[in-house]
Amino acid sequence: MNYKAYIISGCFMGALLTGCSGDYSSAPDNPSRVTEHKVDSVLGLMTLEEKIGQMVLYNGSWDVTGPATGTDDRKKLEKLKKGYVGGMLNVTSVKNTREAQRLVMEHSRLKIPLIFGYDVIHGYRTMFPVPLGESSSWDTALMEKTASVAAREAAAAGINWTFAPMMDVSRDARWGRIMEGAGEDPYLNTRIAVARIKGFQGDDLSDPATIAACAKHFAGYGFAEAGRDYNTVNIGMHELHNTILPPFKAAAAAGVATFMSSFNDIDGIPASADRYLQREILKEEWQWKGFNVSDWGAIAELIPHGVAGDKVRASELAVRAGIDMDMEGGAYEENLAGLLKDHKIPESVIDDAVKRILRVKFNLGLFDDPYRYSNEEREKKELYTVENREVALEAARKSIVLLKNQDHILPLHEKSGTIAVIGPLADDKDSPLGNWRAQADPGSAVSVLEGIRNHAPASCTVTYAKGADLATGARNFLSPLHINTDDTSGFAEALSLAGKADVVILVVGEDAFQSGEGRSQADIRFAGVQQQLIDAVHRINKNTVMVLMNGRPMNISESSGSMKAILETWFLGTEHGNAVGEVLFGKYNPAGKLPVSFPHSVGQSPLYYNRKPTGRPEGGEQVTYSHYNDTPNEALFPFGFGLSYTHFAYGNIRQDRDTFGPGEKINVTVTVTNTGKMAGAEVVQLYLHDEVASLTRPVKMLKAFEKIYLEPGEAKTVNFVIDEQMLSFYTINRKWEAEPGRFKLFIGGNSVDTDMTAFEFKSEQ
Ligand code: NOJ
Repeated sequence: MNYKAYIISGCFMGALLTGCSGDYSSAPDNPSRVTEHKVDSVLGLMTLEEKIGQMVLYNGSWDVTGPATGTDDRKKLEKLKKGYVGGMLNVTSVKNTREAQRLVMEHSRLKIPLIFGYDVIHGYRTMFPVPLGESSSWDTALMEKTASVAAREAAAAGINWTFAPMMDVSRDARWGRIMEGAGEDPYLNTRIAVARIKGFQGDDLSDPATIAACAKHFAGYGFAEAGRDYNTVNIGMHELHNTILPPFKAAAAAGVATFMSSFNDIDGIPASADRYLQREILKEEWQWKGFNVSDWGAIAELIPHGVAGDKVRASELAVRAGIDMDMEGGAYEENLAGLLKDHKIPESVIDDAVKRILRVKFNLGLFDDPYRYSNEEREKKELYTVENREVALEAARKSIVLLKNQDHILPLHEKSGTIAVIGPLADDKDSPLGNWRAQADPGSAVSVLEGIRNHAPASCTVTYAKGADLATGARNFLSPLHINTDDTSGFAEALSLAGKADVVILVVGEDAFQSGEGRSQADIRFAGVQQQLIDAVHRINKNTVMVLMNGRPMNISESSGSMKAILETWFLGTEHGNAVGEVLFGKYNPAGKLPVSFPHSVGQSPLYYNRKPTGRPEGGEQVTYSHYNDTPNEALFPFGFGLSYTHFAYGNIRQDRDTFGPGEKINVTVTVTNTGKMAGAEVVQLYLHDEVASLTRPVKMLKAFEKIYLEPGEAKTVNFVIDEQMLSFYTINRKWEAEPGRFKLFIGGNSVDTDMTAFEFKSEQ
């Protein structure tokens, strides 16, 4: 009997007992009885080799006729035909994914469809801002929308699984992958992770416009020591639970279909061998039912980590720990059968992994139609559409952060005169696409220069000179960049234009390939000859506006004092230049807020607002005080910070009670007034501090925020609800609970400039 017949007859029998219809749910954390029955039915038909095959995820170097050339690819081809592969990554387009699926469907015994995974991190063809940039919008509805457009494009091109969102809390600007997450705060990461998962997965995974999401990297990857990629992580149990796990826990609760284990070790245990994390917390405590894939080769990497002598032991550690699928590691396919034969692992761990994988495939609707993502018409119609580019523009403009605006030099206007656009990134059409650019066409973004030309009033003259190159080199994942450290031959032309201009727009920062995986840096100042260029331009023209393009918080302290205005634009994707143009000329009032602190010096790393208090007071002159002797303790630009062309006044904080207990709540209201002349948006932020607790608690913790829009002169009252859950944390008792005591409450437009009040929580009333 083939599986379809088996399922149909099983379903028929089940229907007699329970009713087969109306019981179907695609949420992976809520497996329906029918789906479970189907999963069990398929599992019951599988040989051991077929089961192990489902736990294998191959990378594809794909062409029409099959995986091309090398021995490795021929082996993959054979395994596909036998049904010994569960999924493929990096096989893109309908043509190629269809071909891979066809091999399985036409040749294998059970015809279990493949799942196709890809790094759809900030877009598929239409590029949205890099995740750290988009997080500056603090607009969760927007991030849900961009994820859903990315999913729609990817799904139209044969993909049904993205390796996103990354929800690693990251506080070290040196770490190249800080660009991929939502920054330094657990609460902001949590809200954004949930929104992105909703965007990718929608309400129903079987809708062919949605794809399975992946919560990564589980866990602690963002805490790599000294910001060096893949490096050791040393954090305690309380930090793990209070800072790193909350976004993942929320992702599991939101029904994310898959998880990915991280490369790093925590306190000596590599994540891919960490049974406590991968099985006890994720699968047992959180009761999560999706499947857990290793990161690329992370199972075999247990050998260089030094906890396994060979792939046999590495496989044993990983499968026992709870890793269900081996990404391009060649560990499970070679070793699981032997481990079972030698009684090193029980068959139940394999069965559990396979059931999880099958469940996600059923939920995606792949068993109903393995080619449901293989529609060439859709692929032609749904990629890079005008509508998708509109969403990209909306996301880009909302992600821009105005860091400084002295003398109201911005926005520029009809009388701004001659505007000299200068800098290595000014006419760069490629870097704005960011590092994880999926299937974006190289060089397809709107450059800042183009955006300025598109939006400058006719009365202004726009001139341009590059000034210098920033970097050359192949623009892909593996190739190194060559930074220009000595060629200043373009300076003369740039300085001549700067001298004749009324305003200079200086576009500097990082190449897109300075951040991302394996792109950590010990120096986060301007690379190459950029600082020289900045200084030279500023000597000639004091009306200089710096437009920053970068994937990490940079150390811009050498120039932040002298620039008239600074606009943080990250890598904004396809519509980068148009969004910058709109903001520079006041067609859009910037409202972004930093999701990470900007340092005065790289020596402050890791730098984050929600640090713990020390036993020693801070500030003052004495050497015994807890401060640096050569640099402030504080950030140059703090978390949550971002200016507007208008001004927002905070006032009238009120709370309906001063004390509350379990099951009760406090309502806190604040009135925010737009006292300026332009309409604009403001992110109203609420922070707490637990004054005395069983553990040291951060000096401030973001606990709620609301983005509001105000016309000039308009006032709005924002209401926040404080309840027991908001106060709870992983305490010294190793459980989540709220401890009684006094809490300070801060409300404001960033993590520093806040108004304060207080309340008390009593565990017994
Ligand atoms: C390694 C990265 O760490 C991970 O985030 C990514 O999804 C995989 N490679 C696949 O490209």
